[in-house]
Amino acid sequence: MHEFTAVPPLRDWLSGQRAAGRRIGLVPTMGALHEGHLSLVDVARQHSDLVVLTIFVNPLQFGPGEDFQRYPRDLARDRRLAEARGVAAIFSPEVATMYPPGSETRVVPGATAARWEGEIRPGHFEGVLTVVAKLFHIVEPAVAVFGQKDIQQGTLIKRMVADLDVPISIVIAPTVREPDGLALSSRNAYLDAEGRHQALALSTALRVAAQLWQAGERDSATLERHMREQFRMFSGVTVDYIAVVEPDYLTPVNTAATGTIIAVAARVGSTRLLDNLILGTEFR
Ligand code: PAJ
Repeated sequence: MHEFTAVPPLRDWLSGQRAAGRRIGLVPTMGALHEGHLSLVDVARQHSDLVVLTIFVNPLQFGPGEDFQRYPRDLARDRRLAEARGVAAIFSPEVATMYPPGSETRVVPGATAARWEGEIRPGHFEGVLTVVAKLFHIVEPAVAVFGQKDIQQGTLIKRMVADLDVPISIVIAPTVREPDGLALSSRNAYLDAEGRHQALALSTALRVAAQLWQAGERDSATLERHMREQFRMFSGVTVDYIAVVEPDYLTPVNTAATGTIIAVAARVGSTRLLDNLILGTEFR
């Protein structure tokens, strides 16, 4: 496995690979790799000849008072996991490489970024789109893979690629879960035993919504009401939002249909957790 921290050697190596006819796949991450991230590598390998995994805790997407400083970092472990999964190259730049003094240009998303996560984390998606655009230009992949778990992020990246004519295919891969249903997340590491139990509120509520949908329920307000009832059984959990929305701009719908997204965000103590389902796809 190749490892790069600077842009020019990575670009040199990639242009050689491209000249040899290899199709490049990109998996951007902030590290602290888990099976969710590694499943994206598997998907990227299906769509490309070589996978570049990026590891960069992007300060631009963290608000003041968020967890940028304490975000888990373990490059040695990430390196082992990536290599074992068949990653061809890791790019793990320093902050000063991505944002040298004087850098000020940003990618500003539209109204889709102002809702849900964006309302609670102002500026978050501007930070995400800016770093993802930079990674796209540095790596110039044919395909880039993102996780359904962060569905608003995936929606905004697809929007950016369409709106700015970026010649990269975006693939959204399914959420990897613990056996009990909890979506894998680097932030699960912040949970103690009680918090770990409370965290099941999200997948439990989504499962109830999926079952109601299966049974024929189509009214968004009814689906949301049943989900809130589930959340009330987990006393340590505060719901930030339950969004029943269409997939393109994440605007609310009154009537759920195949393809409608139900996204939830909740806090367990100070840990924010996200999860979602797409109606008509499998949810376990
Ligand atoms: P990070 O939270 O490290 O996630 C990297 C990628 O892994 C994202 O596409 C995310 O949706 C995906 N992912 C996380 N948990 C997953 C799970 N349980 N199953 C499947 N995929 C999962 O998202 C970011 O980093 C950053 O915002 C980034 C895109 C790298 C830009 O900085």
